[in-house]
Amino acid sequence: MPRSLRVRHDRIDKVKIAVAINGYPNQRALAHDTGFALATISNFLTGKPVGHATFEELCRRLNMDWKEISTLNIKPKNISINTQEAVKKQDWGTAIDVSSFYGRFQELLQIESWILQDNCRLVAVLGMGGVGKTALVTQLAQKIQDEFDYVIWRSLRTSPSFDSIMTDLVSFVSNHQETKPDINRLIQYLRTNRCLLILDNLETVLDVGHAGNYSLDYEKYGELIRVIGEAAHSSCLILTSRNKSAEVALLEGTELPVRSLNLFGSPELAFSLLRSKQLVGSDKQKRELCARYSNNPLKVKIVANTIIDLFNGNICKFLKQNTLLVTNISRLLEQQLNRISKIEQEIMYWLAINRELTTITDLARDFVPAISQSQLLQVIESFIWRSLIEKNANYYTQRPTVMEYITEQLHHKIVIELVNKNFSLFNRLALIVTTAKDDIRATQMQLIMQPIADKLYHHFLLISALEQHILDILAEVQQLKNCLSSYGSTNYQLESPLLSSEN
Ligand SMILES: Nc1ncnc2c1ncn2[C@@H]1O[C@H](COP(=O)(O)OP(=O)(O)O)[C@@H](O)[C@H]1O
Ligand SMILES: [Mg+2]
Repeated sequence: MPRSLRVRHDRIDKVKIAVAINGYPNQRALAHDTGFALATISNFLTGKPVGHATFEELCRRLNMDWKEISTLNIKPKNISINTQEAVKKQDWGTAIDVSSFYGRFQELLQIESWILQDNCRLVAVLGMGGVGKTALVTQLAQKIQDEFDYVIWRSLRTSPSFDSIMTDLVSFVSNHQETKPDINRLIQYLRTNRCLLILDNLETVLDVGHAGNYSLDYEKYGELIRVIGEAAHSSCLILTSRNKSAEVALLEGTELPVRSLNLFGSPELAFSLLRSKQLVGSDKQKRELCARYSNNPLKVKIVANTIIDLFNGNICKFLKQNTLLVTNISRLLEQQLNRISKIEQEIMYWLAINRELTTITDLARDFVPAISQSQLLQVIESFIWRSLIEKNANYYTQRPTVMEYITEQLHHKIVIELVNKNFSLFNRLALIVTTAKDDIRATQMQLIMQPIADKLYHHFLLISALEQHILDILAEVQQLKNCLSSYGSTNYQLESPLLSSEN
C-alpha cells in the first residue's frame, strides 16, 4: 500500500465542493471535526500528499470514493522539504476581523481555485461599496495563507503615495533588506518566494471621472498592476475595488492568469446577517427586507440597526412605513446620522478628517474644549454597533462609504459657514491636521480643502465677488482675532490661498 496519496489535479474542485456540501464552512471546521491538523486539511485540499489512512478517512467524511480521486505521491521528496523549511511571514495590516463570516462558498472556491490551481498572478474582486469585498478577500487570504511564504495586506483607503506602498512591500518581502520603491526589485522577490499581496480599496487611487484610469500622481499603481499581471512569477496580487482598473480589463481578456470576480449581494449571506440581529419577524419578512436592500450586507446591517432603534426591532412595523424605506446608501446614512447629537457629529467629522485609523487618546486630543475618553468610547461603541465605524485592535475609523458621506456633509457645512461668516465647525475642527503624516495631509488637502474651495467658487460664480468676500472675512478676522480659535485661524490661512484668482 502506498504510504501517501494526493488528490488528483482534475478532482480538486470536486473535493472542495464536497467540503461545502457536507456542511463544513471552511477548512478549520473540517480540521476540528476530524481532529486532523489544519495544515493536513490544507495539503489534502490543494493536491499535496497526505498519509494513506488520513486520505481515506477524509474521503469517508466527505462521502467520496478515495480510489476515484486519488493519485500516488510522486513528488520528489526534496521539494516538500524545501517548502517546509521556507520561512513564513505575514503582515495583516488593517485587515478586518472575519470571525463571523457567512456564506460565499462559491465565490471562495472560485477564487481559491484561480489562485491555487490556475496559478493566477492577479485577481480583482469588484463590486459596489458594502457588498462584502473586503470581508471575502480577508476570509480567502486567511484560508490560503499556508500556501504562501509571505502574506501582506495593505489598504489604500487613505490614498497612500505609490512610493510609500512600494517601500512597504519591498521592505516586507525582502525581510527588511531593501526599501527602494522599485517595481523590478519587487518582481525579483515575487519570483524567489511565493507571496500573497492584497491591496484593498484600489478605487481610492482611481480617477472617478475616467473609468479605469488613475488619479494624478497615482499612475504608477497601474504600472505595478500591469507588471505583476504580465511577469512570470509564482506569487499573487489580490485587489479589491469598486471599479475595474484599465490594466485588469486589458490583461484578463488574454491568456494571462489574470481574473476578476464581480461580487453581488447574496440572499443567503444577507439573511444570515439579519438572523444574527435581534429582530422580530418571520423568515419571509426577513428575506423581503434583505431583497429590498439588494442583499447588500452593509445596507442590511445598517437598516437592521435602524429598525432596532426606531421600531423596537419589529420588521413588520418598519416595512409598513413606506417613507422610511430608503434604499440608497447615503439616504440610509442620513437617516442614521440626522438623529445624532452635536458631540457625536463632531466625532464623526474628526474621524473623517483624520482619514486613517485613530486611537481614542488621539481623538480626545483633537477636541477643543477637551472631552473625556470614556465619553468618547461610549459614542464610538454605539457607532460600531450601528456598523458605521470599524475597530481594529484599539484603533478606529469610519467605513469607507460612511467616510465619503461625512466628508461631503463637512464640505457643505463649512461652505455655509464661510458664506455666512458664521464660524462654528470651522473653529472647532482642523481641516488639515498640521501634525499628520505628509501623505495624510496631502489627502486632506485634496479631499477636504480643495472641494470646499471649488464649492465656494461655484457659490459666488464671479471670482471678483469671491475675492471681495475673502477680503471681508480677512478684515473681520483682524478685528475678531479673539473669536477665531487656533483651528479657525489655521483653516483660514490654509484655505484662502486656494481661493485667490492666481491659482
Ligand atoms: N460574508 C460575510 N459574512 C459576514 N459579514 C459580512 C460578509 N460580507 C460582508 N460582511 C459585512 O458587511 C459589511 C460590509 O462588508 P465589506 O467587506 O466591508 O464591504 P466592501 O469591502 O465591499 O465595501 C461589513 O461590516 C462586513 O463585516
Ligand atoms: Mg472594503
